[in-house]
Amino acid sequence: RLTYSRPQPLPLIGNLLDLQDDVPIHALERLADIYGPIYKITMRGKERIIVTSFKLFDELCDENRFWKVPPAALVSGPTPPAEGLFSARSSQSPDWIQAHKILMPAFGPLAIEEMFDEMYDIASQMVMLWARKDSGANRVLVSKEMSNLTFDTIALCAMDFRFNSFYQGQGQAHPFVTAMSNLLLNRSNSQQLSSMLKKLLPSTNEQLRKDAQYQKNLSEQLVKHRKDNPTDKKDLLNAMIYGKDPTTGETMRDELVAANMITFLVAGHETTSGLLSFALLNMLKNPSTLFAARQEVDRVVGKEKITSKHLSELIYVHALLKETLRLTPTAPAITRGPRPENKEDPPRLDRKYELPREGSGIVCLLTKIQRDPEVWGVDVEEFKPERMLDEHMEKIPRNAWKPFGTGLRGCIGRSFAIQEAVLAVALILQNFDVAMDDPSYEMKIVQTLTIKPKDFYIRPTLRKGVT
Ligand code: HEM
Repeated sequence: RLTYSRPQPLPLIGNLLDLQDDVPIHALERLADIYGPIYKITMRGKERIIVTSFKLFDELCDENRFWKVPPAALVSGPTPPAEGLFSARSSQSPDWIQAHKILMPAFGPLAIEEMFDEMYDIASQMVMLWARKDSGANRVLVSKEMSNLTFDTIALCAMDFRFNSFYQGQGQAHPFVTAMSNLLLNRSNSQQLSSMLKKLLPSTNEQLRKDAQYQKNLSEQLVKHRKDNPTDKKDLLNAMIYGKDPTTGETMRDELVAANMITFLVAGHETTSGLLSFALLNMLKNPSTLFAARQEVDRVVGKEKITSKHLSELIYVHALLKETLRLTPTAPAITRGPRPENKEDPPRLDRKYELPREGSGIVCLLTKIQRDPEVWGVDVEEFKPERMLDEHMEKIPRNAWKPFGTGLRGCIGRSFAIQEAVLAVALILQNFDVAMDDPSYEMKIVQTLTIKPKDFYIRPTLRKGVT
């Protein structure tokens, strides 16, 4: 048994002051540098345990002893009438079990390959717009552009709906995106003083209520519209409406379909757009990787129209995306806790650290865990896509790279995200020379529930010989 190291909590406010940062994960990273691979903090009168090393995380990945505990920010308040996959409080919840069984095949490799043409449709909209503006003066705010791309892609592939984000007015987003950003920002900044003060204003809470209601209404309308106008399209919406639980033979009720639709729109877009934004930034900061990726695209695709067959041959591009997810996992933390079947009394980590059975779980800070020098070596902070190639990864322990989470509650959309991201990178490199708008730009992060680079602009110009 060992006592945890920890920053000294103050009466009433606990460690609130230690956690103040515009980027909440930076505060946790700083504390890790001082207090080591496992430490405790007190927030709102409750203790939280933070794990930041591979060794301890590896133990928490043992699905016989531990499982996902949804982040407190996502599950505060009473259980909603329908629980989406991501925020379901337990993998024993009937809503999670039913949706998981029905949706797993819809996210399988063949189903994802069938979505290629729609992914291409949206990605080429972006490329055409860049090409049309091409005059050397086309300044692109990367995170916004990638967010338009991934949002429109998931909406089209999941439910045959076109938000047409690329055609919204300058500086405007679809109201669904605005509502979603407000909700996410509020949840992730709940420990920030500025956010707490804002929440004392009745107008803030009223706006949040309206945003949640708007999201719910829109997704319910989409389900109703599909039921009134059936198609035989093989998308996620049809899979949810008509798919039957193989054990019970039952279909999902409408409000569960709607809750999962919101889940896909939220979980399926910010994470992938952050990945693409960081990937572009990494390439531009490390020109040899940009060169290698472009060479691969030229060799595999050349001037042909990209097909789904090409994607599996873009091995370096794939590695580049994986390395980006190692350094900047866009879902930067997951939460684990002891399973009810775990009979250890009390459950312990590394045989020393006692863990509570109940509560909001142990925060696993992936930004630190995936930079553990014991696993990746002294150059751990460097961007090196080569280390993600199969022959190197064989030597890396299984749980050292987990940006898609772990176990039964790991990401259902992983193949979707990778196919979409490889395609987007390939299309961009095939058609454009890309440069940083400000060559002295240094990475700054903005965090909602996910992370992305802040104020990062590029200038794409059409490659010579591309028409
Ligand atoms: C779960 C990351 C893309 C849908 C997760 C988890 C992570 C993650 C870390 C586990 C969360 C936890 O343990 O609390 C990512 C990253 C993505 C990505 C980094 C892109 C680069 C997507 C896409 C979709 C999606 C494109 C949908 C189309 C989901 C869902 C879950 C999930 C539904 C919950 C699964 C469950 O609990 O059964 N994701 N994700 N994700 N993701 Fe993703």
